[in-house]
Amino acid sequence: MIDYLGDQTKFKACHELPVFNSKDIKSQVMEWVQNKTNFLQDKISRGFWMKIDYKDLAKSAPALIEYLKHVKIPIQEITVGVLTEVMTDGFVMHHGSPGRNFKINFPIHNTEDVYTEWYDIPEHDLRQFPEIINQHTSEACYDLSSIHSTVDKLYPQRVRYNMHSCPIVFNSYLPHRVMPGPDAKYPRIMLATMPVQDPFDLMKLS
Ligand SMILES: [Fe+2]
Repeated sequence: MIDYLGDQTKFKACHELPVFNSKDIKSQVMEWVQNKTNFLQDKISRGFWMKIDYKDLAKSAPALIEYLKHVKIPIQEITVGVLTEVMTDGFVMHHGSPGRNFKINFPIHNTEDVYTEWYDIPEHDLRQFPEIINQHTSEACYDLSSIHSTVDKLYPQRVRYNMHSCPIVFNSYLPHRVMPGPDAKYPRIMLATMPVQDPFDLMKLS
């Protein structure tokens, strides 16, 4: 599975997509969150990824579908990532498993002072970690949780990215963690969409 990384000297970790109707996406998704979930009241969940009725969300957020038509990237699934106030240590160091790697993420709520950090972990080092099965894809991946709090001292950081208003496309196979800064507000809510095909071409450095 490691081959999926490709030659990372030729790719960047994430790519900002144009802001087109981000305000509408945020307001429609927030209305759905308020009406259909308890995310705004949740102060204890540590799982980050929330199981949702994504078809219902898609119906309630036509701006999201309009956006994906605008950038011409059809998606097959939507999920929501929630960082609650018990997660001040962040969302664990991890990586995706092949099959569902490229994601397009949208900032929704309280995204300031929360950073996604991607790290360069050489293939040889990655292979030393225990393998686990990703519960969402049923594919194998490495368990990087043992270096969650030390990765910044062990490996070079590629990018530390704060979502503001831009959607981003990124390769989730690259090891990353989500870390709140001291001024982060909770819950921090982000929407992740999974394209039908990996939009590799957008990731090439010009
Ligand atoms: Fe991730």
